[in-house]
Amino acid sequence: MDIVEAKALTKDFHLGKTLIYALKGVDLAVSEREFLAIAGPSGSGKSTLLNLIGCIDLPTSGSIKIDGIDVSALSSDELADLRATKIGFIFQMFNLIPVLSAFENIEYPLLRKKIKHHMRKEKVMDALKNVGLESFATHKPDELSGGQRQRVAIARALISEPKIILADEPTANLDHKTGTAVLEVMKKINEDQGTVFIFSTHDPKVMSMASRIVQLMDGKVIS
Ligand SMILES: Nc1ncnc2c1ncn2[C@@H]1O[C@H](COP(=O)(O)OP(=O)(O)O)[C@@H](O)[C@H]1O
Ligand SMILES: [Mg+2]
Repeated sequence: MDIVEAKALTKDFHLGKTLIYALKGVDLAVSEREFLAIAGPSGSGKSTLLNLIGCIDLPTSGSIKIDGIDVSALSSDELADLRATKIGFIFQMFNLIPVLSAFENIEYPLLRKKIKHHMRKEKVMDALKNVGLESFATHKPDELSGGQRQRVAIARALISEPKIILADEPTANLDHKTGTAVLEVMKKINEDQGTVFIFSTHDPKVMSMASRIVQLMDGKVIS
């Protein structure tokens, strides 16, 4: 079974009086263990597509199944639950909480769950180790480099053990070498733990690390 199955997705945005057709009928099936790049120029619909897969936004038409579940049939509570348990997010701007340490940022998604303090601590330390930051636990985001911040974001996305991690241009704010290293961290997690990654990029070097590339152009999949 495919972990993501999107069929005939369209998404329109109203901008003043004009209607923008951001997605014009996208089909996408993603299988277990994929490390998938969504490529395409700015404005081609990459973020829109990732937001729909991540159930952050709803399609205008078409259907999405996540791990076999048709998301259009879910209540908003069920949708929030699905997001929290099956999907992790990594963003271009890292989106860490500035007043919290690396440890606390990663711990944050766990606070809503009933997990004993020492178990939580162990999980967070494992996650820090997983991204090579075990000695930076007490550092705040502004005491970390861009690459280290993105590693914290990866660890935070992983902490709930999601099946899918969505990353919208995760290397866009990193220099080339750092971006590649961050992708390598993601790739290793994909290989070791089987987590599916779907990331958008327009960096050819980053694309070349994908197990498959889906090319978007003007709201359509072209290859
Ligand atoms: N919230 C929005 N309101 C209006 N237009 C939007 C909105 N989000 C995206 N768009 C438009 O949809 C198209 C696709 O955007 P986007 O998915 O952000 O592309 P990409 O991530 O590939 O740069 C663009 O024309 C963009 O301007
Ligand atoms: Mg975008």
